[in-house]
Amino acid sequence: MKTSKWSATWASPIDRMNTEERYSIRMRASSGIQHISGAERIVVSEKTEDTVRSLIARARDREPCPEKIVITIESLKTIPMRTRTALDLVTLNAADASAGRLAACRILRSLKISEQAARGAIDHLARGAGPSGGNLRGAMIIDSLTGERLEPDQERGIRASRFDWTDEALEAIIVKLSAIGLTHFRTREALALAAKVAHAPGMLAELCWSDDPDYTAGYVASRSSGYVRFPMLKLPGDPKGGRAFFVDRKMLDMPKLVHYLQVEPMLINESGICWHAMELKEYFNKYNQL
Ligand code: COA
Ligand code: AMP
Repeated sequence: MKTSKWSATWASPIDRMNTEERYSIRMRASSGIQHISGAERIVVSEKTEDTVRSLIARARDREPCPEKIVITIESLKTIPMRTRTALDLVTLNAADASAGRLAACRILRSLKISEQAARGAIDHLARGAGPSGGNLRGAMIIDSLTGERLEPDQERGIRASRFDWTDEALEAIIVKLSAIGLTHFRTREALALAAKVAHAPGMLAELCWSDDPDYTAGYVASRSSGYVRFPMLKLPGDPKGGRAFFVDRKMLDMPKLVHYLQVEPMLINESGICWHAMELKEYFNKYNQL
C-alpha cells in the first residue's frame, strides 16, 4: 500500500469534524499500451472491498475486456479532507459540433481567455494535442493570454486525481442529474473533476471533450460559469479529444498547481444546481453578454 505526503498549500474549506482515515482507490485498465478506462473513489476503510469490486466490474464492462487492470489502494491517513461544493450544471443545445465549439469559444472569451488561446486549444484538441497528433494522457495547461502550452510534458499532460463525491452528495447529484435526463456515470465523474480543477490556484477555465469515439459531449467549466455542457463538441466516431486547463500566468506556480491537481485529495460534499437544457440564444441573453 502506497502512502501520501500531505502539503496543504491551497486554502479551501476543511471538513474538521470528520478525520476518519480514508483511502484513495484508483483503477486503470489497459490492453497492451492502449489505456481503456480509469476511475477513482475516496472511501473509508469499511468500503474499500466493495469499492474495489465495483471498480473491477466497471473495468470488465468494456468490450473487449481489458488485458490488464491495476487497482491502487492508498491511505490518505487521517488528513483533514478538503471539501468543495460542486459546480452548477447547464446543458446548451447547439445545432451541431461546430456551433458547440463556437459557443464554447464565446464562453471562454467571457472568462478572460483570449481568442487566440481559446481557438488554439480547440485546434489542439481537434487535431490531437500530442507532438505526433495523438491524444494526451492528461490535460494541456494553457496560458490564458498567449495560448502558449505550459505543461512540463507535452505527450503526457497533467492528470487531476484524488477527488470524489461524499456519499450524500453523490446520492443528491445522481437524483438531480437523472431528473434532467443525465444518467451516464461520465457526467458526474467529469463534474467532480471539473470542481477540483476549477478551484485550483490560478485556474481560469477548463475545456474538455472525450476521446471516446462514441461519446460526443464536452464542456467548458469554471468557478464563475459553472459546468456548461454541450451534447456534441465533436462528431460521432471521432477518436480525438482531451482537456485544456487555462491558467493566469501571473498567478502560476507550476509545482504547486501540479501538486494540487494530482496529489491533494478533495471531496465534493454538496451538489450544485442542475438546470434544464437551454438554447444558445437564451443562455447568451441571460448570462453572457459577449
Ligand atoms: N490515458 C492514458 N493513459 C493513462 C490514463 C489516461 N487517462 N490514466 C492513466 N494512464 C496510464 C499512463 O500510462 C500512466 O502513466 P503516466 O503517468 O506516465 O501518464 C499510468 O497509467 C499510471 O497513471 P496514474 O495516474 O499514476 O495511475 P493511477 O492508478 O494512480 O490513476 C486514474 C489512474 C485513471 C484513476 C487517474 O489517473 C485519473 O485519471 N483519475 C480521474 C478519473 C476520472 O474520474 N475521470 C473523469 C473523466 S470523465
Ligand atoms: P475522458 O473524459 O476520460 O474521455 O478523457 C478525455 C481526455 O481528457 C483524455 O484524452 C485525456 O487527454 C484527458 N484526461 C483524462 N483523464 C484526465 C485527468 N484525470 N485529468 C486531466 N485530464 C485527463
